[in-house]
Formats: sequence, C-alpha cells, structure tokens
Amino acid sequence: MSGTTGNRKIGRMLLLAAAAALTLSAAPRLSAHGNVTPQAVDTTALPDIAPSNETWLTHNPYRGNAKAIEIGASAYGQNCARCHGLDAISGGIAPDLRLLELGDSGDEWFVQRFQHGSVREGKVYMPPMGEVLGQKAGWAIRTWLETKHTDE
Ligand code: HEC
Repeated sequence: MSGTTGNRKIGRMLLLAAAAALTLSAAPRLSAHGNVTPQAVDTTALPDIAPSNETWLTHNPYRGNAKAIEIGASAYGQNCARCHGLDAISGGIAPDLRLLELGDSGDEWFVQRFQHGSVREGKVYMPPMGEVLGQKAGWAIRTWLETKHTDE
C-alpha cells in the first residue's frame, strides 16, 4: 500500500462508513420482516377437513396422526417458536404451550388463539394465524404440541 494517497484514504473511509450505514439500516428491517410474516405450510399430505376447510372445527381431527405431527413440528418451528420457544419450551416471552390441556378442552382454546391471536386494548400480543396458515396447519401444530405435553 505504498502508493496510498490522502485522498484514497478518505475515499476508503467514506466507503466503509457507507457500508456500515447500510448494514445498520438493513438489519432491523430484515428481523422485523421475519417477525411478522407467517410462513406458508404445505398441508397437502393431510386429509381435508369435513365439511369444508373454511368451517373451523373445535376439536382436532388429526390427533395422533403421524404425518400431522411431522408437518406440525416444522410449521411450529417456522411460525411459533420465535415467541413460544424452540421445541415448545418457552423462554418467557409467551406462554409455554406444553402446558395446554390435552384433548378436546385444550383443542378449543388452542384453535381460538391460533385463529384470532390475542389483541387486548389495541395491543397485539399474538398475531392472528388462521387466515394465513389455514386450519389444517393449525391442527397439525396442535397434534405435534400434544406430543410435547407436560404437566409441570
Ligand atoms: C409474536 C409472538 C407470537 C407468535 C409468533 C405466536 N404467539 Fe401464541 N401467544 C403469544 C402471546 C404473547 C400469548 C399470550 C397472549 C395473552 O396473554 O393474551 C400467546 C398465546 C397463545 C396461546 C394461548 C396459550 C395459553 O396458555 O393461554 C396459544 C394456544 C398460542 N399462543 C399458539 C400459538 C401458535 C400455535 C403459534 C404459531 C402458529 C403462535 N402462538 C405464534 C405470542 C405469540
């Protein structure tokens, strides 16, 4: 670098500063985006829900279904883990979903939250997921969650 002149040094510094500014402005946008966009879930391998996929059931039609458990695990990882914790073990930001009641009574509460999220006094605690992900994905996640259930 024996030929470096003062001007070239200033040029490099400006370039570095510009790169730093770009990184700073891009980073928050990327993470904010990742936080709000639900990731579509491929549920074609699961049986359709009767009478129609648009009518929301209150009980899990897939309970114990191995394919639903597999799809649910990945759908949870993509859409719920950032708040409810990896492998459904809550880090404290949101309730620990392993504690949800098993069976029909837990189903009803689960699907209510999945479909509508939680909004209190205008503040979004959990975004609604029903419209975007659909109930087949919802029940797949519920099916997987039941395999993680704990009472403690
Ligand atoms: C942006 C963070 C966030 C994401 C993403 C999120 N949740 Fe939640 N969830 C919350 C919070 C916070 C609550 C507690 C709401 C309250 O206190 O009103 C909650 C509550 C729930 C409840 C009720 C739990 C209880 O014990 O009462 C269920 C069920 C639930 N979420 C399921 C899901 C599922 C399934 C997904 C993924 C499809 C998901 N959530 C994605 C933040 C989130």
